[in-house]
Amino acid sequence: MKDRIRVGLIGFGTVGTGVVRILSKEKDLITRRLGVPLTIAQIADRDITRKRDIAVPPDILTTDPQRLIQNPDIDIILELMGGIEPARDFILNAIYNKKHVVTANKALLAAHGEEIFDAACKENVDVGFEASVGGGIPIIRAIKEGFSGENISAVFGIVNGTSNYILTQMSEKGREFLDVLKEAQTLGYAEADPTLDVSGGDSAHKLAILATLAYGTPVPIEEIYTEGIDHVTPLDITFAETLGYKIKLLAIAKHFDGKIEARVHPTMIPKEEMLAQVNGVFNAIYIIGESVGESLFYGRGAGSMPTGSAVVSDLIDIARNIQNGTNTRVPHLAYLPKTRTRLPICPITAIDSSYYLRFRVGDRPGVLSEISGVLGRHNISIASVIQEGRKGSSSGDGVLLVMMTHQAKEADIQAALSRINQSPFVFEPAVLIRVEEKNNNGLTRNIRT
Ligand code: HSE
Repeated sequence: MKDRIRVGLIGFGTVGTGVVRILSKEKDLITRRLGVPLTIAQIADRDITRKRDIAVPPDILTTDPQRLIQNPDIDIILELMGGIEPARDFILNAIYNKKHVVTANKALLAAHGEEIFDAACKENVDVGFEASVGGGIPIIRAIKEGFSGENISAVFGIVNGTSNYILTQMSEKGREFLDVLKEAQTLGYAEADPTLDVSGGDSAHKLAILATLAYGTPVPIEEIYTEGIDHVTPLDITFAETLGYKIKLLAIAKHFDGKIEARVHPTMIPKEEMLAQVNGVFNAIYIIGESVGESLFYGRGAGSMPTGSAVVSDLIDIARNIQNGTNTRVPHLAYLPKTRTRLPICPITAIDSSYYLRFRVGDRPGVLSEISGVLGRHNISIASVIQEGRKGSSSGDGVLLVMMTHQAKEADIQAALSRINQSPFVFEPAVLIRVEEKNNNGLTRNIRT
């Protein structure tokens, strides 16, 4: 038994300062729960002179992460620097040095998780990554432990706080995309490279982690179909609202017939659904299990303190293992490594969904019937149509035509749109947004459970 557990923190940024603040503020509480103090012994950052809003003793600061990795007194290396290299190198070095690791680095785990967890298995060390998905929501532990007896058919939800914050502000306040993005950066929600947030990349990283845990299979990031919110316009948000929907960036993973469906894209959901009411920086993730039915996890998905809270929970978990002389009691990736299999990931063209389609077309007789004719020939049934009235006397910009389809095959939709987009009466490529609705069992209709 140790008289305290010592942590070496690499990366003293937004989340790092949250962790330091929680460990200081909740010192007594944590000691009562763990039995011994949990302390930050050393901190490495490229910039140790910048003034942070939490004070630490200057002698624990260094610019050299190797001093932490090689320090025999440090039990756990906490990697919060983000990015792929040198974070991967530091984590692997820490593991080979028999240090346990905690990380919030979803991009790294999505790209190199298999290598990192293989090494951790060989060296018999724990790797905690609760903060990598859902900010303060304990979704990783829920899947690995709370649902360890569940056959999970679907995991889906809102997993990027920045995008959700932007969509909420655009929809509720009519604010400009770039203006809200800047605010999300100031609030510490966005990634160092915010294109990861708005292009759907960050959600895809998180989905890769969730699906890997749920299904016991590697989920290569490049096989996740990914669209972001960067092309969602105020016009489509307004049409969605007229039709009774909200647009949310959803990450969706399903398991059926021995295959995985994994996709990230803006999605229209009926405004009365709970996911449609998840606003601002909040995330919400559904787990659908055969025995448990549906469970929804809701909380702050980004920010210094919520994400710091998830990191501290990992530190305590590993510290408890150290004190109990055990480790890797729960398999890193929820399944025993030798039982993991490689399940195929379906391409986006293989999915079924209903669709919102928006066209800008010439205002002349026969256009509506030409478009509906092409859709019909591709087995796509139209559920409703809105045609925006002619504005002013000029029809040079065309008119807007919005269609909602019934359930259709994505391959058919893409083939139909490619045909329609070539037509001389179509002024710009059609906009497509997938629609998810629930059936009477409370399950998302497009989720085959
Ligand atoms: N940039 C991420 C988000 C941070 O906005 O959700 C939390 O992973």
